[in-house]
Amino acid sequence: MRDVLRAGLHEPNAMVLSTVSAQGRPSSRTVLLKGLDEGGFVFFTNYSSRKGTELAATPRCSLLFLWHVLERQVRVEGAAMRLSADENDAYFWTRPRASQIGAWASPQSEVVADRSALDERYSLLAQRFADERVPRPENWGGYCVEPESVEFWQGRLGRMHDRIRYRRTPDGWVTERLAP
Ligand SMILES: Cc1cc2nc3c(=O)[nH]c(=O)nc-3n(C[C@H](O)[C@H](O)[C@H](O)COP(=O)(O)O)c2cc1C
Repeated sequence: MRDVLRAGLHEPNAMVLSTVSAQGRPSSRTVLLKGLDEGGFVFFTNYSSRKGTELAATPRCSLLFLWHVLERQVRVEGAAMRLSADENDAYFWTRPRASQIGAWASPQSEVVADRSALDERYSLLAQRFADERVPRPENWGGYCVEPESVEFWQGRLGRMHDRIRYRRTPDGWVTERLAP
C-alpha cells in the first residue's frame, strides 16, 4: 500500500469485494478501503444492500486490489465482521455532509422509479436535517475483513510472475510461493 501511495495512482484504495448469495451465486463490486491494520481490511457501506444481505447470510468474502501500472495484484480471502456502532458513528461523522444525507436518501441496491425520485428524497432529507448534525442511519456501517489468506502477485518477464501467499494456520502465518 505504501508503494501504491508513492506511485500517486488514482483511487489507490479501490478494491473489488466479492460476496456469494445463499444460492451460491457470486457477485462483485468496487468499494474503498478505509482502514487497514492487524485486525483486517475495513470498508463502509449499507448493511441492507445486496452485499450487506449476502454477508449477513454468508460472511465469507474476497477482496481484490489491482494496480495495473505497477503490474501488481493482491487477493484477500476472509470473513467480514460488522464494526461496532461507536466505530460506525465515528467514521460517519468524518464524511462530508452531502454524503451523510446521501446515505439516508439512497436505499442502496433497491429498484427506484427514476432519478427524480432519488433527487426528491435527497432534498426532503436535506431539509429535514437542515439545522442538526446528520445522525447515522442504523443500516449504514463498516465491515472488517479478517484475512485468512493474502496473495501478492507481481508481474515479471516471460510470464514468470511472482505469487507469494500468506496463509493463516492455527500455528501462525505460513508463506508459500505459487506457480504463476
Ligand atoms: C471507485 C468506486 C468506489 C466505491 N466505493 C464504495 C464504498 O466504499 N462503499 C459502497 O457501499 N459502495 C461503493 N461503491 C459503489 C459499489 O460499487 C456498488 O455500486 C454499491 O455498493 C452497491 O452494491 P451492491 O448492490 O452489490 O450491494 C463504489 C464504486 C466505485 C466505482
